[in-house]
Amino acid sequence: MVSIAPRLAQLAAAAMAAPEDGTFWMPERASSYAGEVDWLFYFIYWVSVFFFCLIAALMTVFLLRYRKPPGARAESQAEHNTVLEIVWSVIPLIIVIVIFLGGFKGYLTMAVLPDSSASLEILVNGQKWQWTFQYPNGYVDKDLHAPVDRPVRLVLSSSDVIHSLYIPAFRLKKDAVPGRYNKAWFRATRPGEYNLYCAEYCGTAHSAMIAQAIIHPRGGYEAWLEDASNFLERMSPADAGRKLYNERGCSQCHSTDGRSGTGPSFLGIYEKEALFSDGTRAMVDENYIRESIMEPMAKIVAGYQGVMPSYQGRLKDAEITALIAYIKTLKEE
Ligand code: CUA
Repeated sequence: MVSIAPRLAQLAAAAMAAPEDGTFWMPERASSYAGEVDWLFYFIYWVSVFFFCLIAALMTVFLLRYRKPPGARAESQAEHNTVLEIVWSVIPLIIVIVIFLGGFKGYLTMAVLPDSSASLEILVNGQKWQWTFQYPNGYVDKDLHAPVDRPVRLVLSSSDVIHSLYIPAFRLKKDAVPGRYNKAWFRATRPGEYNLYCAEYCGTAHSAMIAQAIIHPRGGYEAWLEDASNFLERMSPADAGRKLYNERGCSQCHSTDGRSGTGPSFLGIYEKEALFSDGTRAMVDENYIRESIMEPMAKIVAGYQGVMPSYQGRLKDAEITALIAYIKTLKEE
C-alpha cells in the first residue's frame, strides 16, 4: 500500500504537465499559481479515487468471504491488531499532512502580494451589477486589462453589497466587501481573453455581472491604455456617452428601447416631464440628468425604487456631459 504514494505523486505530476488548455475537471490555466491549485486538486482527487476503489473492493470481498447462513450468531472478536491499526492511522496522517502543506503553500502564494514597486496596481470596484477597473492613470474600464508576465495587484472594494471577483483561468477568487479593501494578485502567463465572473449572489442581475480579463502581449497593454484613456477627445460626446452608458453600469438598470428595468428607460426622456414618487413633476433637462447621476435620491421617478448609487466623484464633468449628449440622441420614432 505504501508503494501507492509514488504512483499518486506521478499522477499529480502528470496533471501539472497537462496542456495549458485545461483538463477534464479544470479550465485552462493562465496564471503563475494555477498549477499549484491544480496539483493539489488532482492529488486529493486521486487519493479519493484510490480509497473509493479500495473500500468498495474490500467491502465486496468481505461480504462474500464472511457471509454467514441466515440465523447464525456472530462470535465475539474482542482482539486487536497493533500493526494494522498503526498502518491505517499513519498513512492517512501522512496524506492529510501533504494536503495541508500543499494547501498552506498555495494559500501563501496567493495571499502574499508582490512588491508594489515591481507590479501594476488596478482598483476593482463591484457595484450592482457591473465590475469596474480603474487603471493607474485614472481611466476606468468595464474589463480587466493587464500585461502578460507582470505581477498585477488588485485592490477590491464594493459600492453596495458583497461581490466576489472570480477568474477561473487564473484560479483567482476574492470578495469585494463594502467598507473595506481586499487585495489579490496574479501574474498572467499567456495573452488571451478569459472569463471573469461575480461569484457571490448579489441580487437580481448577479448572473449578468460578467466581464473579460484581457491579457495583452508585451507592449500591448501600454498601447491599449494610451488609446482607451483618450476616448473623450477621440469620440463625439454622444459616442463617448454611449460607451460610458455601456461600461459604467447605466445599462444594467436603464434600457434605451423603452423597456423599464430597475430604473426608467432613457428612451425619449429628454425634454419630457417626469412624475416623481412624491407627486411633484419636473422637466428632464441637462441639470435634472446631472442631479440624478450625482444625487439619485433627490427625485425618484414614480413607480421605481430609490436604489441607484451616487456617481459623485466617480464620473468626471466631461463624462457626465457626454452621457447627457447620448441621452439626448435617444428619441422616440
Ligand atoms: Cu455581484 Cu454577484
